[in-house]
Amino acid sequence: MDVTRDIAATRRALAIPRARGDRIGLVPTMGALHAGHIELLATACQACDFSVATIFVNPTQFAADEDLAAYPRTPEQDYDVCRAAGIDLVFQPTAAEMYRPDASTTVTVAGLDRHLCGPHRPGHFVGVATVVAKLFQIVQPDAAYFGRKDYQQLAIIRRMVRDLDMPVDVVGCPTVREADGLALSSRNVYLSDEHRRQAAVIPAALRAVAERIAAGQTGVPDLTTLLADTLRSRGPLEIDYASIVDPDTLQPLETVAGPVVVAAAVRIGQTRLIDNLEVDPPATGD
Ligand code: PAJ
Repeated sequence: MDVTRDIAATRRALAIPRARGDRIGLVPTMGALHAGHIELLATACQACDFSVATIFVNPTQFAADEDLAAYPRTPEQDYDVCRAAGIDLVFQPTAAEMYRPDASTTVTVAGLDRHLCGPHRPGHFVGVATVVAKLFQIVQPDAAYFGRKDYQQLAIIRRMVRDLDMPVDVVGCPTVREADGLALSSRNVYLSDEHRRQAAVIPAALRAVAERIAAGQTGVPDLTTLLADTLRSRGPLEIDYASIVDPDTLQPLETVAGPVVVAAAVRIGQTRLIDNLEVDPPATGD
């Protein structure tokens, strides 16, 4: 497994598999790799002939008051994880390599960033879309792998690829969870033992709502009240949002009349955690 730090070396390393006609897979990450990332790495390695992981804590997707400096960085462990998964190349650039001081071009996926995390993280999705567009340009993958845990991020990247005619298959991979249901996240390491126990309320609250929907309940106001009340039931936390939204537009719904996404973002102590469940209502028989 090679590790490259600059764009030119990355392009050189990819010239050989590309000339061979290899199917090239890309897994963009910010490192501190866990079993959720491993799911993406393994899926890429299985489906592609040559698989690239990127490790880059992208500064442009962090707001000034967010955890850029504190974000966990575990490069040596990450190389081992990538190697074990079968990754052929790790691209781990510096911020200076990725961004010229006078960089002036960004990618805005308008509309989809108006909901869910968008209002709570101004500029975040412009940072994400821009860095992913750049990684697509650098690696030129045939397929790129993203987690469904970051549902809005996946939706925004799919829309960007569609709108800008990027020749990349975007593959959404299932959310990997701990035994108690908590979605794996690099940010879980910030949680104290007590907060970690409390955090299991997030998947439990999403599941409680999913069960009601599966049982035929359609009124979103009551369902979102249940979601918020359940989230608060195991101790104090701050809810950024607790929403039931359309899977394509991400707009909040009034009634459940088809597939929906039940999504929440909460702050437990200093740690912001997000999760979602994609839910189908029962067939009506019409
Ligand atoms: P990061 O948080 O490192 O996540 C990298 C990829 O792993 C994302 O596609 C994310 O959805 C996926 N992932 C994280 N936790 C997961 C879990 N529990 N189960 C399944 N997949 C999971 O997301 C980013 O980095 C960045 O925004 C990035 C796309 C790399 C752009 O900087």
